Amino acid sequence: MIPAQIIEEIRSKAEIVKIVSEYVPLRKRGKNYLGLCPFHPEKDPSFTVSPDKQLFHCFGCNEGGNVFAFIMKIENVGFAEAVEELGAKLGIAVPKPAGAGPTRTEKDKHYQVMQLAASFFRNNLSEPAQAYLDRRAITEKTKELFRLGFAPAGWDNLFNHLIARGVPPVLIERCGLALPRENKNGYYDRFRSRLIFPIVDQRDRVVAFGGRSLGDEEPKYLNSPDTLIYHKGETVFGLNLCKDHIKKSKTAVLVEGYFDLITPFQNGILNIVASLGTALTVAQCKLLSRYCENIVLAFDADSAGWIAAEKSADLLHNQGLTVKVARLKGGKDPDEVIRNQGSEAFKQCLNTALPLIEFKISRILSRHNLQEIESRARALREVAAVLSQEKDPFIQQEYVKLAAPLMKCDADALLAEIKRQQNSRQQWPGNLRRVTEKPSDKIAEAEKNLIALAAQNNEALKLLKEELVAEDFKLRETRAIADLLLAADFGSEAAPAHFLLENLPDEEAKKFLSGLLMSEHLSQGEKMETIIADCVKVIKGERLRAKIDDLKLEIKEAEKAGETGRVAELLSALKGEIS
Ligand code: CTP
Ligand code: MN
Repeated sequence: MIPAQIIEEIRSKAEIVKIVSEYVPLRKRGKNYLGLCPFHPEKDPSFTVSPDKQLFHCFGCNEGGNVFAFIMKIENVGFAEAVEELGAKLGIAVPKPAGAGPTRTEKDKHYQVMQLAASFFRNNLSEPAQAYLDRRAITEKTKELFRLGFAPAGWDNLFNHLIARGVPPVLIERCGLALPRENKNGYYDRFRSRLIFPIVDQRDRVVAFGGRSLGDEEPKYLNSPDTLIYHKGETVFGLNLCKDHIKKSKTAVLVEGYFDLITPFQNGILNIVASLGTALTVAQCKLLSRYCENIVLAFDADSAGWIAAEKSADLLHNQGLTVKVARLKGGKDPDEVIRNQGSEAFKQCLNTALPLIEFKISRILSRHNLQEIESRARALREVAAVLSQEKDPFIQQEYVKLAAPLMKCDADALLAEIKRQQNSRQQWPGNLRRVTEKPSDKIAEAEKNLIALAAQNNEALKLLKEELVAEDFKLRETRAIADLLLAADFGSEAAPAHFLLENLPDEEAKKFLSGLLMSEHLSQGEKMETIIADCVKVIKGERLRAKIDDLKLEIKEAEKAGETGRVAELLSALKGEIS
């Protein structure tokens, strides 16, 4: 366990607005800050951060909590790691908890080994790798920034280097740097005679390597396998160097290859990331959506590249990102465009990138022979399918005007097909209107008010404890909160809210609480004591009503059973309750 006072110190020194701003652009709105939620796709900001309460809450997806919860969620780490990371940011030393789970130290070891390996490769960047990079016009500064290196020829240079530094062979293997020999005796290096690109995560740690052969040896690129610290589908290349530029411009240029990132970067295009040639994953899209709102795809100018662009564009769009697709001219990939035509030519391609819908239309048209009526009919249906997804009627209409002549058809014909598709879709049960939620009743309102007040104010908590017990709370979430809130003993200074957010056993209750704390649903100006008294009255009234109902039921049953003594007993109890 990390000592409570250290957690407390970190929490009180961490400025949640500042911390969150490192990941999400925020704008001030009244007392709070507002931004696009990093945890679910959205176009209109419902992600709220309160500097007063030191809480965040998304009214779209209901994610919420304090600064620790934010780091846990966004960095995908546990509580202890989140505390540690914030401590490091604030210069507060966090003692390593004794008997902590092995994963943390195990991960640390991996990072250390990868760092050692990166330094080894970097120090070996000599001929012929230097000559190769010169041929591709990579400058010294770029080599330094990207920590480019070379894995020398030979079977065990890196392996021996790491062994000499005390790294156990198994760990070298687990880091993906060496493979066991066929005869099971010893290991050999994975990367040999290759130019090395370290893959560095957004927190500046080397997590993997890519190695390019200098000549025609196959494979052209060899990559680290997945390890404890590297998951290919969750990483993008270049984020460590480009994330600030991406945040500032709200836009990321997404390319496929190492050199497609490095060459533009060297030429001043600093908001760029690379997917490294595999199919883009949802996790990568989510990662990108934390940093930007717009993506410009600059994939290879061949059919494989276009198909990859189509798939990636949809995936990114589904994560709420606005996507454009660049058409490269003067080279097959960004690296070539710049080397052949200069960086202005590449920038021109980015500036004239097609909006997603236009790109999709152009792809559909390119697949069909527009001289043939039957082909045109198919194209019309496919284009209509794209346009029927567009909710904005103006945008839809403009694209109809643009697309119809390209398909040599009337705008009306296209519009009619869009309508037809939209109508047939509307009959799907999935599109039925949601059942309206039942209005929250008086008791629920009272429970919420009491919890909201008592969680933020020790005085209110004291009053509440005098009047009610946890069992009086009937909503699932308020009950879970009350269980903890009414049992714990809080010092006079700290408000219980953060304690609750960190200790509630139930994820749903945590979200419920952060939402409750962030929505100002209590009437302003009214005295706290009055609100508490009113709410307590409602709840006690309910408790009484329930008790009377129970008694009445018991009386009926006792009468049926002919237990006259019992009936008399219950009747007098009932009288007692009513008076
Ligand atoms: N790639 C890979 N393994 C391969 C081939 C490609 O991992 N065998 C990945 C690399 O990240 C590469 C990207 O896919 O950068 C794009 O591949 P490709 O277009 O074939 O290579 P280029 O990036 O153009 O490589 P170069 O310019 O060095 O020839
Ligand atoms: Mn290339």
